[in-house]
Amino acid sequence: MSEFSSGQQLDALKKYFGHGSFRGAQERAVESILGGRDTLCVMPTGAGKSVCFQLPAMLLDGVAFVISPLISLMKDQIDSLSQNGIPCACINSSLSLSEIKNVLSNTAKGRYKLIYIAPERLDNEWFLSFAKSLKISMIVVDEAHCVSQWGQDFRVSYTKISDFVDSIMLAGIPARPFVCAFTATATPRVREDIVKMLKLQNPEIIVAGFDRENLNFEVRRPAKKFEELSAFLKERRDKSGIIYCLTRKTVDELSEKLKSLGFNAAPYHAGLPSQDRHKNQEDFIFDRVRIIVATNAFGMGVNKSNVSFVVHYNMPKDIESYYQEAGRAGRDGSPADAVILYGGQDIRTNLFLINESKDKQYASAEEEMYLKSLERKRLKEMDLYCNTHECLRHYILKYFGEEIESPQSGCKNCGNCNCESDIKDITVLSQKILSCVFRMRGNFGKNTVIDVLKGSKNARVQRFMLDKLSTYGICKEHRTEINDAITFLLVNGFLEMTNGEFPVIKLGSRSDEILKGKIKVEMKLSASKQKESKAADERSEKIAAGKIAKAPNGADIDQKLFANLKSLRAKLAAAQNLPAYIIFHDSALIDMCAKLPKTKEDFSRISGVGAQKLARYADVFMDEIKNYLGRGRHGEDRMEERGGRM
Ligand SMILES: Nc1ncnc2c1ncn2[C@@H]1O[C@H](COP(=O)(O)OP(=O)(O)OP(=O)(O)O)[C@@H](O)[C@H]1O
Ligand SMILES: [Mg+2]
Ligand SMILES: [Zn+2]
Repeated sequence: MSEFSSGQQLDALKKYFGHGSFRGAQERAVESILGGRDTLCVMPTGAGKSVCFQLPAMLLDGVAFVISPLISLMKDQIDSLSQNGIPCACINSSLSLSEIKNVLSNTAKGRYKLIYIAPERLDNEWFLSFAKSLKISMIVVDEAHCVSQWGQDFRVSYTKISDFVDSIMLAGIPARPFVCAFTATATPRVREDIVKMLKLQNPEIIVAGFDRENLNFEVRRPAKKFEELSAFLKERRDKSGIIYCLTRKTVDELSEKLKSLGFNAAPYHAGLPSQDRHKNQEDFIFDRVRIIVATNAFGMGVNKSNVSFVVHYNMPKDIESYYQEAGRAGRDGSPADAVILYGGQDIRTNLFLINESKDKQYASAEEEMYLKSLERKRLKEMDLYCNTHECLRHYILKYFGEEIESPQSGCKNCGNCNCESDIKDITVLSQKILSCVFRMRGNFGKNTVIDVLKGSKNARVQRFMLDKLSTYGICKEHRTEINDAITFLLVNGFLEMTNGEFPVIKLGSRSDEILKGKIKVEMKLSASKQKESKAADERSEKIAAGKIAKAPNGADIDQKLFANLKSLRAKLAAAQNLPAYIIFHDSALIDMCAKLPKTKEDFSRISGVGAQKLARYADVFMDEIKNYLGRGRHGEDRMEERGGRM
């Protein structure tokens, strides 16, 4: 138990950050940290990890050391905190020597509640003795998966963190500060590694629910990807988003093509000169560029809150990367889209990238073989995601080991749940498929299994005398459903596919349940043509409606006022050289339109308004609102603006 009551915590949350309530597991994390316990906190991208350590840093004595892997990430957080009036600074290579001296001297005087430090700084003798002279409230390790070789972003300098903590402890006074670590990487292996590598002591481990409710997941398989994409972008004229591609070449080609059609897009990948890359990223963050087309090199440290869609132009390499990349949409909690444009070629490109990869160093040939087989396994799971007819959200959550209460009911906010589809009993078909796989002794790949089930006469079937099997041709009448049914059986553990370069299909651990007739197997069918177009109509209506910002309770807001507040925000941001979302999120402006605050007290109730923003911005925004309302906007005019509702 911490010495701070939950009322005190909530007051501080509103005062310093402007949030009226905690989200998800934030409260548990804050309580654990305020109680002085080592804490590992795993929450999905965009869920709100920063507040979990920033809030305790404000309440505890001393200064919190925050170790963060990227300069851009530090900068974003320092800008946000400073807007909220929180005294903080960073120490990294972007600062001049005199700036660093200044930060150190202010730190020594106890002027900061948080300092952000690049991990490289930690094994510097001089820095260590400086650190020993301070009252440190806690050590925070952000993006803690960087300490694990199993994570996607391993950083050698992260492995020095525990020595640093030990050295402070050896000094005796002050005693070892406690350590809290944050990551969005959910795999148990990385989690264990973090605890071990950071030498966390009896840590409280908080794994938050992985669901990001505001994201709509969708997989489309367009005949013409580019046309599909440009239609998608046209439907979202004023919205900002990221398009991920597998290769640098695709990034270059696609961004050029989009630009030539008049889209405000820019490329980002590791092959671009670093100034260009940096400029394009800044332009995107500052809303000067609407669409960034990028490889997976883009994203870490990009906390832009108003990213409204993340499109994968190619299927990504695994669910972990996918969820992290997709999670960059909708950070401000507004509805956002995460769409994959799936094409048959994607799996081959990915396999090529795995098999031919020269980026990674392996200790031995065995290690290489083993690690590559794991990558192929993860790729397969990604491919199943793209092919399943089940709820996409449930698929992801299950992948991360999260229990789902009622998987049958679906999430109602993914491509598969949103398209109407028939449920079909495939118990008999499944039994036929499983017994065929059994007779083929797990020696053949998916295509050959399908050929045998269909009764195909091709050379491979004949060469291995598969046409002599009793199961040859038993699914002739289900031709069109075999592929989907096999995907279904793979997704649900009734079948398994091996991880080699030439994967074969075997019976899965649950196959007995079907073979022994213990369960009825029901599968969602892909929507019929007619229904698809109906679903598409409904969807475009939804998108059209979604284009208009609404209050969280669904009520209409005055769009003209919203636009005015946005341009006021843009002016204020430009004057301070800050991205607009650092001043206020869209959600705060929407709240202003809904509540039309007239007094400071009214304004303090707006979401995202803490003490500092109240003092700084209440008057300008209320003036804007007052002027707007005073400009004689009456009756009809307003009703039209509000969407014509009486
Ligand atoms: N209690 C809350 N109420 C409303 N908004 C919140 C709350 N907590 C955090 N947010 C908002 O959620 C957004 C994401 O927060 P944050 O940057 O901390 O995410 P994160 O979990 O660190 O993600 P990443 O893994 O990408 O670093 C921010 O814009 C923040 O203002
Ligand atoms: Mg973060
Ligand atoms: Zn769903």
